[in-house]
Amino acid sequence: MSNVTIFEHPLIKHKITLLRDKSTGTKDFRTLIEEIATLMGYEALRDLPLDQVEIETPICKTVQPMVAGKKLAIVPILRAGLGMVNGILALVPSAKVGHIGMYRDEKTHIPHEYYCKLPENIGERLIIVLDPMLATGGSAVDAINLIKQRGGKHIKFMSIIAAPEGVKALTEAHPDVEVYCGCLDERLNENAYIVPGLGDAGDRIFGTK
Ligand code: PRP
Ligand code: URA
Repeated sequence: MSNVTIFEHPLIKHKITLLRDKSTGTKDFRTLIEEIATLMGYEALRDLPLDQVEIETPICKTVQPMVAGKKLAIVPILRAGLGMVNGILALVPSAKVGHIGMYRDEKTHIPHEYYCKLPENIGERLIIVLDPMLATGGSAVDAINLIKQRGGKHIKFMSIIAAPEGVKALTEAHPDVEVYCGCLDERLNENAYIVPGLGDAGDRIFGTK
């Protein structure tokens, strides 16, 4: 699994534990999702493209590196991926944001696409796909298929909690995609929910259940 990074940082572990706790309410849940995305993003964006720009210090003119924000696209998978967007924008405020709408059928667990809008010139951008949950991997695999069909090439995927089944499906379908997971859980249950997981991420972010 050379393309997979599982985070071991104590701050990320601590915040994921708070996220899992069923007594954590919507407001804190949202804050934690954003904070974890920022901490993970710091590592996932390690190879961000840089532009050389001229600035003037109090001493002299100089050419120095700055993040080429226009060359980056953040693509949350709706709904739950939305919760991670501001956490990444805190690091790269000028990044463009696309959206892919997917929902899992409750019985078959097969994902269905309902929306796709990506920034222009997608083929020239580093694309960061966001979804806090990588369960069967179906949503991530299909979302990345859509991005590739529209010309996306350099793609990374970030999830906060992953199941081994999802990591396997995603890396087999898209071996070129770098995968970042806040933690790797035990397994899926009979409803394809991650165990121990955190429940339904979308419902917990938006307070819909
Ligand atoms: C959840 C989650 C992922 C997907 C993961 O979304 O946010 O997109 O399930 O499961 P998978 O790896 O088995 O595909 P859901 O379909 O519940 O939609 P929602 O975010 O709108 O609640
Ligand atoms: N989607 C979620 O929100 N949670 C899971 O555990 C699996 C899929």
